[in-house]
Parts: sequence; C-alpha cells; structure tokens
Amino acid sequence: MGVRLHVNVDHVATLRQARGTPYPDPVEAALRCERAGAHGITVHLREDRRHIQDADVEALRRRLRTLLNLEMAATDDMVAIALRIRPDIVTLVPERRQERTTEGGLDVVGQHDALSRVVDELQHAHIAVHLFVEPDPDALRAALRTGARGVELHTGAYAAADAEPERTRQLQRLATAGRWLRAESTTVRIAAGHGLTLQNVGPLLRAVPEIEELNIGHALVSDAVFVGLDAAVGAYLAAIAGARP
Ligand code: PXP
Repeated sequence: MGVRLHVNVDHVATLRQARGTPYPDPVEAALRCERAGAHGITVHLREDRRHIQDADVEALRRRLRTLLNLEMAATDDMVAIALRIRPDIVTLVPERRQERTTEGGLDVVGQHDALSRVVDELQHAHIAVHLFVEPDPDALRAALRTGARGVELHTGAYAAADAEPERTRQLQRLATAGRWLRAESTTVRIAAGHGLTLQNVGPLLRAVPEIEELNIGHALVSDAVFVGLDAAVGAYLAAIAGARP
C-alpha cells in the first residue's frame, strides 16, 4: 500500500481566528481535502486553543469519512477530550518547554512513565497512539517501550536544513531511524511530519522507505492560497506517488 497523506488543517483555523469570523471553516477544508484524495485529516488541539477549537474536532469526528488524527499534549484534560471524541489516532506532541527534547520532539526518555500511562489509557479505549519524536536512538527506543502503536518522526531539522552537508546529514538521521524502527518492530506504524513541502517530501520518501504516513499542514495550506485546496492536495499526492511508484 502507498504512503498515506494526512492533511493538517490547523492553519485554515488560524486564518479564521485572526478575525474571529466563522470563515474559513477548517471542517469544510477537511472535507474538500478528503474529496481531493487525502487519506486522513490531522488537527492539533492546543491548550491555548489558538487555532483549532473543541467544536471543530467534534464536527470533524461526525463528518469525516476517512480518518481523524488528533495531535495533543499528554495532559489529563486532553486525554478526557480524546476519550470523549474518540479520534482514530492520537499523536502525542510536546507543548511546554520541559516536555521537549532539544530539537523539539517529545522528551520520551524523561517523561517515559507519564507517557506510557497515557498510551495505555488511550489504547485500552481502542484509540491508536503515536508519539512525535526526534529521529534519535534513545528517543526511539523509549518510544517503542511505551507500547505506542506508532512513531511520527520529527522532520523539522531536515526541513530547516536548506544547504549541504546538513541536509544530507538530516536525511541520514531519518533513514537510520526508519531502518532501526522497522528492524525492532514489524508492526509499529512509521509516520513523519513537520515542515514538509512539495520540494522536500520526495527526497524524504526516497531516503526513508519505511515511512507509511505523512502529516502535512502549513506548506500545503500555503500552496492552496495560490492554487486552491483540491489542486494542492493533488500536487502532494502526485509528489508522493512520484517518490513511491
Ligand atoms: N506532525 C506533527 C506532530 C505536528 O505537530 C505538526 C504541526 O502541527 C505537523 C506534523 C505538521 O507540520 P507542518 O504544519 O509544518 O506541515
């Protein structure tokens, strides 16, 4: 099966919150992405509710035909919301400084026990949990030990590396991470995201053949300003298919 594209529609909500208007509606945007071929929709319900609101997540749960991936912090409040709304996937992400590693993934080593409890609680309720982690050996090892069904590799450092040799170094880090994860677990779901664009997604998929799922938001929504959402989703699907025929 090909690589799944999950479109993150947070920044449609950013535009709405900038004016406090009812438009543009991230739920309508999500439905359009689905019609254009996206395999799922991702939203980040932040503690400060700066873009996506609780009502958006509820409406997405009712109206999506594909899959809902809810990104959230591992807090009691967020776990209660997830248990009520029941997304298909919860991706745990850091929101506060102490929850992050130096580069920005979850501090899975330092927060292992707390994260494991959240993973257990959500997966017991049949919600698959993914952990958003740096492609570093210690973080990956700790992520697998939590029992989470999936790992989302943080591609932010790769996306930010616009020159050689740093770009190749970051791709190699991700390639090593993908290989290591698959060697350790035949079942863990391997996703990737953050800062991915039409230009950098192909080289990533070619370098890391283990990636099964991508979460792409900011660049895709930005492209949509010029070409429309349908065409933007189509362009990313074509770039993915081009890298993984
Ligand atoms: N994956 C995770 C875990 C994220 O937190 C984000 C940003 O919300 C993304 C993917 C999407 O990143 P971008 O908006 O840069 O495509």
